[in-house]
Amino acid sequence: MTDASTDDTERGDSSSESTVYHVTSVDDMEEGDRLLVDIDGQSLAIFRGSEEFYAISNYCQHQGGPMCKGRMLNPLDSTKSKDAWELSQDSDVPTVACPWHGWEYELETGEHVAPTKYNLPTYDTIVEDGELYVEV
Ligand code: FES
Repeated sequence: MTDASTDDTERGDSSSESTVYHVTSVDDMEEGDRLLVDIDGQSLAIFRGSEEFYAISNYCQHQGGPMCKGRMLNPLDSTKSKDAWELSQDSDVPTVACPWHGWEYELETGEHVAPTKYNLPTYDTIVEDGELYVEV
């Protein structure tokens, strides 16, 4: 695992309430890599998937486990039947599993894969001229 901090380079989009921060060079992350970045007092886990980058809150909704240390997965899709949870794979939606107790979240939306209210905040990532930015 690679830990890093941003250099807090702001590109300054003053027309919105969010700010764009420089994270790293795209070439510094390979598929499956992740970074832990601290932006404006928020701890974000940045993941590189096969084609996209994802930015998600680093703290699991269960007990605050470090999502930056979680396994990236093709998700388990869970549905509750009358007697038990049923799990199936959906390879189109990448997820990350918390390393402490396995709660699993979609990387794009932050939604818990089970139908719960426990979702994680996610942030837009931007790739421009070989550099990765996150909008917070
Ligand atoms: S702290 Fe993440 S699953 Fe428990």
